[in-house]
Amino acid sequence: MRPPPSSWLHHLLLLFLAAVPSALSKSTLESCASSTACPALLSYTLYADLKLAEVAALFAADPLAILAANAIDFAVPDPANRILPAGLPLRVPVPCACSDGIRKATSVRYVARAGDTLASVAGSVYGGLTTADWIRDSNGMPQGAALDAGTTLFVPLHCACFGGVDSGVPAMYLTYVVAEGDTVPAIARRFRTTGNDLMSVNDMAAADIAAGDIIVVPLPACASSFPAYTSDAGLSVANGTYAITANRCVQCSCGPGNLDLFCVPAPLADSTCSSMQCSNSSMMLGNFTLQMTSAGCSVTSCSYGGYVNGTILTTLTTSLKPQCPGPHQFPPLMPPPTTSFFETYLGPSPTPMPSEGGIGPQMAGMAPTSSPPVSSRSPAPADRRAGDVLALFALSLAAANLLW
Ligand SMILES: *[C@@H]1O[C@H](CO)[C@@H](O)[C@H](O)[C@H]1NC(C)=O
Ligand SMILES: *[C@@H]1O[C@H](CO)[C@@H](O)[C@H](O)[C@H]1NC(C)=O
Ligand SMILES: *[C@@H]1O[C@H](CO)[C@@H](O)[C@H](O)[C@H]1NC(C)=O
Ligand SMILES: *[C@@H]1O[C@H](CO)[C@@H](O)[C@H](O)[C@H]1NC(C)=O
Repeated sequence: MRPPPSSWLHHLLLLFLAAVPSALSKSTLESCASSTACPALLSYTLYADLKLAEVAALFAADPLAILAANAIDFAVPDPANRILPAGLPLRVPVPCACSDGIRKATSVRYVARAGDTLASVAGSVYGGLTTADWIRDSNGMPQGAALDAGTTLFVPLHCACFGGVDSGVPAMYLTYVVAEGDTVPAIARRFRTTGNDLMSVNDMAAADIAAGDIIVVPLPACASSFPAYTSDAGLSVANGTYAITANRCVQCSCGPGNLDLFCVPAPLADSTCSSMQCSNSSMMLGNFTLQMTSAGCSVTSCSYGGYVNGTILTTLTTSLKPQCPGPHQFPPLMPPPTTSFFETYLGPSPTPMPSEGGIGPQMAGMAPTSSPPVSSRSPAPADRRAGDVLALFALSLAAANLLW
């Protein structure tokens, strides 16, 4: 998957072009009517070394939910105090609300620190997921007003749901801020979609994007069908990742083999969690039995049905499949990253972690920490390489200076 050497030159060129301030950024807005929030993801690159708890606070998100959405082991000790490196790309799950007729994340508040400006808050702290003008308008600030330290800002962020489908297939939408050097085909490849799909989702007439544009990227996802009265109704999990729900009692995952949501007791589930056993059965969430019949394979499974008032709903279902499914495979989990070279999505996928299927002691619900040690560091992806080129360039300049 190494790009041809010519792309190095291309990146270098774009790096220089990037020094020229780009035109006003574009962004997609999804109009909406329903008042219900829907699940969405934000692609966020850390602007500094930050504790996971700090990242979570920036987005009013649960630290564990952030780890789960990035397929990073969420059963490690003291996850909130882990320091994540500047430059790390993360997916942040947010409720995407409907406000003033458009979709936006509305739960985020930021307390300004000395030296902050609206531009630095929008562009740096929030990585371009919002704009200075949007923050100013949303907070009723006059044009040119200074931002005083200690001011609490409401920070609207772009997000979209489009009904949780893309081309008729369940999908979650990731808000993505176009970086220098990005092209529509490259973004499409990176997120395993097509340029046409990206353009139609973003209502783009031509494949021209500029650094700072905000687009949304559809990701294949597993949809839930919990009743509307459950507190996690509408839960959706992107392929290859996890979600934590039911007051951290249940973990749900999606993929890699199929897009059926698969929920089991979470590693942190304790005695405060309500029963996760299916009624009239000895089966727990995620357990299933297989029985070969003349008509096919009869699969009885105990699945998660949503969270209501502290109660975990379970449903026991039996279905007939032409063939018995193999052991359930969970998306692989990575340990919390310590360098921004860490790649969850852009590098080659590690092999899925196997687990025993059927009803057996090792089946579903294996604690994330029991995942095998992560494979060796993946090679630097293309846009990382651009940074490397710059570093090299700077280094050679420095060397040249020394020689002079
Ligand atoms: C889900 O992810 C896995 C591995 O990351 C991939 O092999 C599979 O094709 C993906 N499924 C869909 C529907 O995109
Ligand atoms: C559980 O079993 C009892 C007795 O066998 C039966 O009366 C009841 O309806 C069953 N409940 C469910 C939810 O199937
Ligand atoms: C949850 O509990 C409250 C108070 O106990 C009750 O009024 C409400 O109807 C319950 N909701 C559901 C969905 O059962
Ligand atoms: C059923 O699921 C539970 C929870 O995931 C797991 O601990 C158990 O090993 C599974 N198998 C059986 C036979 O209960």
